Amino acid sequence: MYSINRLLPIYKKYSLSVILIVFMGFISMAQVIPVETNENAVVLEVSKGKDLKMIYWGKRLANSSEYGQIPTQEKQATDYTGLYCSAYTPAGSRNLLEPAIAVSHADGNRSLDLKYIQHEIQHESDNISLLKITLKDKIYPFQVDLFYRSFYNQDVIEQWAVISHQEKKEVVLHKFASANLTLKASDYYLTQYHGDWAKEMQPEESKLTHGIKTIDTKLGTRANLFLPSVFMISLNEPASEDEGTVMYGALEWSGNFKIDMELDPQNNLRIIGGINNYASEYHLPAGEEFKTPSFLTVMSHNGKGEASRKLHQWARDYKLLDGNGNRLTLLNNWEATYFDFNEQKLFSLLKDTKKLGVDLFLLDDGWFGNEYPRNNDDAGLGDWQANKKKLPNGVSSLVKEASNNDVKFGIWIEPEMVNPESNLYHEHPDWVIKQPERDEYYFRNQLVLDLSNPKVQDFVFGVVDDLFVENPDLAYIKWDCNAVIYNAYTAHLKQQQSHLYIDYVEGLYAVLKRVRDKYPTVPMMLCSGGGGRVDYAALQYFTEFWPSDNTDPLERVFMQWEYSYFYPSISMSCHVTDWGKQALKYKVDVAMMGKLGFDIVINELPKEELEFCQEAVKNYNELKDVIWHGDLYRLVDPKLNDFASLMFVNNEKSEAVMFNYLVNNRYDIKSEMPVKLKGLNPEKRYHIKEVNLFPGTQSWLDSSKTYSGDFLMTIGYNPQVQTSRKSVVLAISEEK
Ligand code: GLA
Repeated sequence: MYSINRLLPIYKKYSLSVILIVFMGFISMAQVIPVETNENAVVLEVSKGKDLKMIYWGKRLANSSEYGQIPTQEKQATDYTGLYCSAYTPAGSRNLLEPAIAVSHADGNRSLDLKYIQHEIQHESDNISLLKITLKDKIYPFQVDLFYRSFYNQDVIEQWAVISHQEKKEVVLHKFASANLTLKASDYYLTQYHGDWAKEMQPEESKLTHGIKTIDTKLGTRANLFLPSVFMISLNEPASEDEGTVMYGALEWSGNFKIDMELDPQNNLRIIGGINNYASEYHLPAGEEFKTPSFLTVMSHNGKGEASRKLHQWARDYKLLDGNGNRLTLLNNWEATYFDFNEQKLFSLLKDTKKLGVDLFLLDDGWFGNEYPRNNDDAGLGDWQANKKKLPNGVSSLVKEASNNDVKFGIWIEPEMVNPESNLYHEHPDWVIKQPERDEYYFRNQLVLDLSNPKVQDFVFGVVDDLFVENPDLAYIKWDCNAVIYNAYTAHLKQQQSHLYIDYVEGLYAVLKRVRDKYPTVPMMLCSGGGGRVDYAALQYFTEFWPSDNTDPLERVFMQWEYSYFYPSISMSCHVTDWGKQALKYKVDVAMMGKLGFDIVINELPKEELEFCQEAVKNYNELKDVIWHGDLYRLVDPKLNDFASLMFVNNEKSEAVMFNYLVNNRYDIKSEMPVKLKGLNPEKRYHIKEVNLFPGTQSWLDSSKTYSGDFLMTIGYNPQVQTSRKSVVLAISEEK
């Protein structure tokens, strides 16, 4: 028996090269295959009959030779098939439960029985190992390679499958999951999210009962509009912030997904997640490979907070583009002007950008289209030439003027989409996803371009490339995606209509890869009519995402809280806008817990408000390193309390920021008791200073005192939020 990460010290000697160790099926020592991370182990077992099972997922054992003993202690109901815990359940032979894979072979037969052949382990770095297990059918030349990439320090595991065959003709894949997990506990509590436009990330928690609970989407693009793929499973009892065993999961895929959670007859929880097979049978020719996207998991035994911190660290180190880098603060004109602007107005907004003190001006929708000008959302998408009336000197004069004002310039695009009112639509009707014989049906007056078509991919890449070629100083892109796919039909794929949903997403990634090959570092915001497309596959190409068009700060306290379980603050664009009736200070304080931006009319701000914003931007510049790169500790949950509290702490535990927001307006509501801080060093002493004070107001807090980390974490500190102090931002620093 070999555990991947137990071998790390041996591998480390050879750390310059990737080391491969192959275990063949006949070696009896390879019958138990543990994938160990710092805290956990996923244990796979090859049965006598060569079925591959997942026998354990939980805290790792001190002695890995004992994993094989785990099943001897389980006296569950009969598993009639020997497959309930299959690591990749094949359909059509003796399986009785939800399969991970279902196929029609070249001869039309629909049975599959996958047997273990061998496994290999690659040591990719000191922190990363990759386990590959090969399974084959006994009758048909059909193969599945299962992959488990483990990130040791973060307790993160990514899983995917590669399906291939050597049959005489193509094989049809009816189902092709990325992962098939088995969890064992007395009870399972699912936290999932639902939403709609401006209502993203609404949490729901429920105890799973027998049968299947599915979270999925069939929207194609803007796939998360109703449901994202992120979820949590608490084992035995609902996990809290600091207690309980909880696993987070998500599919790294920007299109249709399906995650089935089946509580089986043995009371095990089977989780089968991958691309949604809805309307998506895949025809696989012999010799080709079908690689599924990665299914992501992280497990913690110390509650949701620790799971988040592990996931954030993994995201910053390995996924999110430039996850440990910097970001640009900005002024956006969407809500300040909507479509109504011209060069002069934008020139004055560029001055405001400088006046405000942020890094960049972001020109939003409405700058393009001539024959079909983009003066509303019913025309122009697809015609990416600057509108000559609004911008007679093109985008380049704006980029130049930005530089004259010593600020950077960014621009909005929505290159996957087309309005029927556009030249593109008339010139290339075959590039549009729509049923040839049926009436068109629109989402925000627009249709989706067919990214399964390489010519469309070239066009979409060209939209970005042309902008950069013409404007080498362009510093930022906001990439939007406002429509779902209706009337799914591709003129390009003709006979293979069922490939559209998958090939669309692969086409999108091909374009994004080309963009990144040529422009590796330029920051890009992932937007989809709000948070309709937030996932870790897309975030490999983006530096940040737009959580929602709903920027009402009260809503945002809740929404950003929920996003924060899965995504680090450096990835979350948060803008101060006119949404919500709260004071400007509350809005700015809330936006500061993510990546700060503004979308308000700066030159109409009363003097004190402008002064306040300028000062807040300066404060943010002081604090942003901790907010972007520090560890997040959620302290007081707004769903259960009258206020929210959270804090970020840097690695050295020398700097921290604490945000506090009142979320209830009832009479005499306040933070009555101290809030226990987290993540500090008990030995150190800290200063606490209130920042972001509105001009003319004084802090209620005595900043002359210092407190030990021990005091702050055991007794706490009262930020004194109440109805006349609705938000309080505290800068905490080690006494020097
Ligand atoms: C979407 C985005 C907004 C804005 C508009 C422009 O709704 O989410 O932020 O860019 O499009 O049309």
